[in-house]
Amino acid sequence: MRFLAGLIVGVLLVVGAAFAYFLSGSAPVATADKTMPFEKMLANGALHARIGKEMPKSVPVNADEATFLAGGQVYQHHCGLCHGLPNMDQGPIAKGMFPKPPHLFRGKGVTDDEPGETYWKVANGIRLTGMPSFKGNLSETEMWQVSVLLANANKISDAVKQELKPPNFAGPLPPGTPGRQGTVPPAGKTH
Ligand code: HEC
Repeated sequence: MRFLAGLIVGVLLVVGAAFAYFLSGSAPVATADKTMPFEKMLANGALHARIGKEMPKSVPVNADEATFLAGGQVYQHHCGLCHGLPNMDQGPIAKGMFPKPPHLFRGKGVTDDEPGETYWKVANGIRLTGMPSFKGNLSETEMWQVSVLLANANKISDAVKQELKPPNFAGPLPPGTPGRQGTVPPAGKTH
């Protein structure tokens, strides 16, 4: 009985201390803060355990040039902003994130991961990081194409590199874009 009471008080103290730590204003919440003890180990362990259970083992697209080109288009539109492009450094958005998105065309990227593991991350995202879930915005085929491209990121042709050129973020809008000057009536004269 005394042991049980001691155990309960002990557990309450630990829970109380954890609450006090998180609500005291000293826990790391800014992207520049240091990691918490065990943060990386727990987060990575949890992610790998889940992916190990759920990742698809067979890949429904071929690892050929057509797939790499299509995957290149997906990557250039949806991923390069955070993960960088072959000939471009990562920009201020990527540099200001915690955890930082890895450059996927430098070093080994995710060439040593199964395409199914990358597919799981693209489809589901990684919670409490900036990695979004693309299920619902990209088709199954597009998610596989970009995953297979990344598994082969060290072997791409010049044509695929061309597909992965930096987009013209700050350039003029192409003709015919809604809102471009001259294509819609000026504000206030719409009726
Ligand atoms: C808004 C920023 C952002 C966008 C856009 C984004 N990601 Fe990520 N991604 C991240 C971050 C941040 C991480 C790191 C997560 C972590 O450390 O656990 C990540 C992690 C990953 C990983 C795991 C990397 C590794 O080393 O294990 C893969 C693969 C990945 N993203 C693929 C993609 C693909 C493919 C796209 C486009 C369809 C994409 N991401 C779009 C931010 C982004």
